[in-house]
Formats: sequence, C-alpha cells, structure tokens
Amino acid sequence: MTDRYALIGNPVAHSKSPWIHAEFARATGEDIEYGRIEAPLDGFAGAVDAFRRGGGKGLNATLPFKEAAFRYCEGRVTQRAAAGQAVNTLHFRTEAHGDNTDGVGLVRDLSGNLGLDLEGKSLLLMGAGGAAQAVVGALLDAGAGSLVIANRTVAKAQALAARFPGVIACGYDALEGRVFDVAINATSAGLSGEAPALPKGILGKGTLAYDMVYGRETAFLAAARSAGARACDGLGMLVEQAAESFFVWRGVRPETRLLLQKLRGG
Ligand code: ATR
Repeated sequence: MTDRYALIGNPVAHSKSPWIHAEFARATGEDIEYGRIEAPLDGFAGAVDAFRRGGGKGLNATLPFKEAAFRYCEGRVTQRAAAGQAVNTLHFRTEAHGDNTDGVGLVRDLSGNLGLDLEGKSLLLMGAGGAAQAVVGALLDAGAGSLVIANRTVAKAQALAARFPGVIACGYDALEGRVFDVAINATSAGLSGEAPALPKGILGKGTLAYDMVYGRETAFLAAARSAGARACDGLGMLVEQAAESFFVWRGVRPETRLLLQKLRGG
C-alpha cells in the first residue's frame, strides 16, 4: 500500500517539496505519495490529527508551524530538534516523533554541493528567529572555527548565542571591520525586498554569501554579488533537508546532485 506523507504549512501552494519527494520516490523505488496541507494558522494540531487518522505516515512542517510541530511531539524529539526547539520532520508510529533536518541540510549543501569545508572557518549567521535557531548546532558540529550571530534585535541574538558555548552575539553595526569566510542570511528580510544592514566591507571576494531563501535574487545576494562575494541561494538546502527527511522516514538516502541540477534548469 502507498504510504502517505505531506508538507504542512501556510502558505504551501508554491513549495517545491512535493515535486522533490516525488522524484526521490521514483529514483529509490519507494512507494510513497507526498501532498500538501495548508492548515489554518490556529489549526495545526487539528490538521495533523486528521492526517494521522487518515493513515498518514509523516509530515514536513514549514512556516509558521515548526515550533507548533515541536510542541505537538511532547518531548519525543531528536537531539537536533531539541537544540533548535523546532521540528520540520514528523514521523508517526503509535505516537508522533519529531526531528529537524534543516541544519544538516544546510551543512550538506555547503560542504557537499558547494564544496566548502567548514572546519575552522569563520562564520556569520544573520538572524535569530526559527530559521537561524535550527542551524546553529549543525554549523558547530561541522567544525566551524568561530560563529557570530548578528541580529537587528540584539537581545534575540544574545538569547540564542547563550545556548551554545563560544558563540558570540551582536548587532549589525558591531560587525564593522570584520571579515568572514561564510555569511549566512537566516533572516526573513529578503521576503520583503530588504537585506540585513551590514556595514560596508563585510562581504568580499573571499566570502561565501548564502541566503536560506530560494527561488529569488534577494537584496542580500545582490549586494554580495556586487561586492565580489560568491553568492548562493537556499535551493540546495531545501533539497538536502528533504533528502534527510526522506531518509528519516524510509531509511533510504536519495541521491541529490542530479535533482538539484534539474531544479536549477541544468
Ligand atoms: P524565521 O522563522 O523565518 O526565522 P522569525 O522567527 O520571524 O522568522 O525571524 C525573522 C528573522 O528575520 C529575525 O531575526 C528578524 O530580526 P528581528 O529579530 O530583529 O525582528 C529578521 N528580519 C526580518 N526582517 C528583517 C529586516 N528587514 N532586516 C533585518 N532583519 C530582519
């Protein structure tokens, strides 16, 4: 019998996840179906319960439900989900189990697809919301030499950094004069056509500038490109986190490189 999975979020209409999982299923021969569920903003738990009653095996949770998905699992979460207090992968057995594949997705994109060894590198992470929270642990585990979290609201960066030994928090102004190997934009600024207010000179020729947003040239990526930095969007992270979710559910790891090429129109 075909096992059912879906993406739950609001909105979900334009997500590439159903297409990606359909491709993974075809390539691996796994008999799954992957749909999309647009849940009301105040109706996450009810929508998940209904999906489970219908026999659903697992869900990916996206904005704005990753924290709600974490709460839904009532503590049955992996360590990497607990670290970010957010769940993007729900797995239903008798009870609901939660995992988070975003951090490993970002690290695999940086290291595998973009060829960047994070060991010893200086990293700047912009943002301190859910997207940033989900990746700090994985970046540190990958061997980052140093990690600075910068955010418009400095107190939020401080609260996040305080959970991880050695991580420094600051506002954008305080970055003046700093140089980083990798600068990761985990803010939602790009969705409203804005970029974090970085001082001049932060992004340069030796920097890999990464925006977790995909499918559009954000103001951050445009600024990075014009400063001579290597600019990358978050499409590879999307594919890699999907592959890891697929592995969590099915125990089979799909190949990602060709699929990513296909998505980029290559
Ligand atoms: P997400 O789950 O996508 O991280 P979030 O929790 O609402 O969403 O967090 C949004 C992040 O983007 C925050 O770090 C926010 O900064 P503040 O904490 O100061 O609000 C950041 N952000 C949003 N718009 C921004 C902008 N125009 N410039 C800089 N940072 C912005």
